[in-house]
Amino acid sequence: MSALSLQPDVFRRLAAQIAELSAEYLSGADARSLIPSLSGAEVAAMFDGAVPEAGVGDEVVDDLARLTNAVRIGNGRLFPYVVTPGESVAALADLYASVLNQNVTAWRSAPAAVAVEQCVIRWIAAAVGCAGFHGSLTSGGSAANLMGLAMARESRLPGNDEGATPGVVYASSEVHMSIPKAVGLLGLGRRNLRLIPTDDRFRIDLDALRRAIAEDEAKGRPGVAIVASAGTVNTGAIDDLAGAAALATEHDLWLHVDGAYGALAALAEPAKLEGLSLVDSVSMDAHKWLYQPLDCSILFYRDPEIARRTFAHSDDYVRPLSDDPVEGFAFFEQSLELSRRFRALKLWASIRYHGLSAFRAAIAADLRHALLLAERVEGEPALQLLAPVELSAVCFRWNDGTGEDALDDRNAAILSRMNQRGRVAISNATIRGSFALRACFVNHLTTDDDVVAIVDEVLVAAAETGDG
Ligand SMILES: Cc1ncc(COP(=O)(O)O)c(C=O)c1O
Repeated sequence: MSALSLQPDVFRRLAAQIAELSAEYLSGADARSLIPSLSGAEVAAMFDGAVPEAGVGDEVVDDLARLTNAVRIGNGRLFPYVVTPGESVAALADLYASVLNQNVTAWRSAPAAVAVEQCVIRWIAAAVGCAGFHGSLTSGGSAANLMGLAMARESRLPGNDEGATPGVVYASSEVHMSIPKAVGLLGLGRRNLRLIPTDDRFRIDLDALRRAIAEDEAKGRPGVAIVASAGTVNTGAIDDLAGAAALATEHDLWLHVDGAYGALAALAEPAKLEGLSLVDSVSMDAHKWLYQPLDCSILFYRDPEIARRTFAHSDDYVRPLSDDPVEGFAFFEQSLELSRRFRALKLWASIRYHGLSAFRAAIAADLRHALLLAERVEGEPALQLLAPVELSAVCFRWNDGTGEDALDDRNAAILSRMNQRGRVAISNATIRGSFALRACFVNHLTTDDDVVAIVDEVLVAAAETGDG
């Protein structure tokens, strides 16, 4: 037997130790600093040893325990970017997914895993008002946005065989960086990405969009897609999806929605996402607002035929051997990935365990926490709200009214100080040119007290960094 093969009793022993370590981490996370106290050099030194030629055996569990001192902790006061501590049933199911090690290429290789993935696609599509959409799970919103735009390109300016033709993509100036990245990679030309100005709520200005489309049409430049945002990364702004859909139809453009952050809010407040059912494709990150451990994103699309036209290019060795619509199904004919992990299992198990209503309630709580923070900010004379709260991102700054000049530097210093203190983790954004402190709630562990702690920490950090 190979030295790599574990006896069942050894597996049980290691699994129990790692389960205990995980439980200790989870139960102790609330009391820990969010930022490791170790310096970069100290963290690097933990891993600068030579590769062990002989294994350390069970001592590897001690290594895992030591590593915990150098991770960014996930607890109820984690609010930077769009990150969640991760739901624990999903984490356990993820272990089982790795043990089962299904390669979710096609039904032929992973029958149950394909069925589970199709099941969660069906559940979530229906829950967000897109019943009947097809889709697949991806590593993240960036991959889902790339795939959505690849389909847009193949539907309007096919480039798979002859090479890409430059074509115009429209999005707001608040669009996520994954969109220019995708436009570049797809050979459409980043110069052809029109960044349309936004209104006072950071939503795409549809009149300006209409004018930009007309100008490009008049000059004979081929249009490919409108990318609407359902939850911009800075402020959570949601573009007018129905308005964007009408323009897309009128001008024969594909409508992709980057809903990586915000589209799942439809579970709690469908009215905010009105028009979502009208789109051609939409990305949603379950590792953001369904609290899943990384990685777990979903790309939904209306027309599987366009997905096949975009992604199907199969060698004989993988070709399904069955004409049966279930047994002949292959994700790789609708995705850029061939080998794919069993991502759907954690999401399926976590929804099965808690029920969808628990997720709706957690999202509703995040939305309420954002409003609570905004209210606290507005009630505090030294703080200033910098953007309307549309979803769960709150952008604000410390401002004692002594003048604009030093405010950016001062708020950057406050953020650094907060990071050193490690009690609350937030990040930053640039709002109409100003440095903003930004807290984003996609955290099922957060309590009202944790929200209040943000304001307390900003004020303490302001006092510690100046005459605050
Ligand atoms: C609006 C938006 N789109 C796309 C992405 C990219 O998602 P991922 O990091 O999963 O690739 C993010 C990530 O924060 C986002 O907020």
